[in-house]
Amino acid sequence: MSDTYTLSNGVKIPVVGFGTWQTPDGDVAKHSVEVAIEAGYRHIDTAAMYRNEDSVGEGIKAGLAATGLKRDDLFVTTKLNNNAHSFDLVQKAIDESLTKLGLDHVDLYLIHWPNPASFRDSYPDSLKDTWRGMEQVYKDGKARAIGISNFRQAHLDVIKADATVEPMVNQIFLNPSDLQPAVTKMNEDNHILSEAYSPLGTGKLLGNTELAKVAAKYGKGVAQVLLRWSLQHGFLPLAKSVHDDRIKQNTDLFDFSLSDADMKTLDGMHGVAGLATDPDTTNF
Ligand code: A2P
Repeated sequence: MSDTYTLSNGVKIPVVGFGTWQTPDGDVAKHSVEVAIEAGYRHIDTAAMYRNEDSVGEGIKAGLAATGLKRDDLFVTTKLNNNAHSFDLVQKAIDESLTKLGLDHVDLYLIHWPNPASFRDSYPDSLKDTWRGMEQVYKDGKARAIGISNFRQAHLDVIKADATVEPMVNQIFLNPSDLQPAVTKMNEDNHILSEAYSPLGTGKLLGNTELAKVAAKYGKGVAQVLLRWSLQHGFLPLAKSVHDDRIKQNTDLFDFSLSDADMKTLDGMHGVAGLATDPDTTNF
């Protein structure tokens, strides 16, 4: 779990993140983050929109106390909410997130969605202004790296036109039921790391019989096979669970390797769980 990728600015990022989307605020979030750190995760992913930054921050504190690790042993990501798309609002939003998390900086700050409804009248200018705000956060040392989430080519073009700091990460919905080939290629072409949220297809791939057969060959669970698939593509999966046993199971990914044939089987599953997103949509 301490293996790392290197971002385009040289910052190292642990190859698996602990996801907290849909993790309820309060004791559940605090406990699961603490357990994750004890289980070996060194990378925690949250967002203002998840409304659990307070409890995630408490979980981080508890996890550090339990393990004796230091803040800098962890990589923490949070994301700019949809109601904060302007230079000034970004500065306010990062300070609010840092206060809630109990941190003086995050390791990665992402624009959560490129073109939210509340700012659609002023897009693309609002997005350009927002990226300027993200650059300021980076220059002020409040985030060691900055990036984007749910971005497609049209959105990336908008920010790249004036960027003085290039995005280092694009976090997207990415699993064998939604391969997003155009976006992962765009990321690669621009030296942007693809982070995969919902690597288990929001759980909908877990009951797939074809995947169960692959998993049985390796003596692993379907979740582990899906996370391994993501890693072998060079993506960074964000594994979310609120159950101690699953949190631990999802760290056990480094003593096996999927064969080329099995990677191809998973690559051929696009749409299998009905999750493929419309590649032409840009209004989100
Ligand atoms: P839970 O948090 O109740 O354990 P995704 O990451 O694709 O969005 O999927 C997350 C879903 O998969 C969650 O509902 C989570 O439920 C479940 N999950 C996570 N890890 C495992 C696992 N190892 N085995 C079974 N279900 C899992």
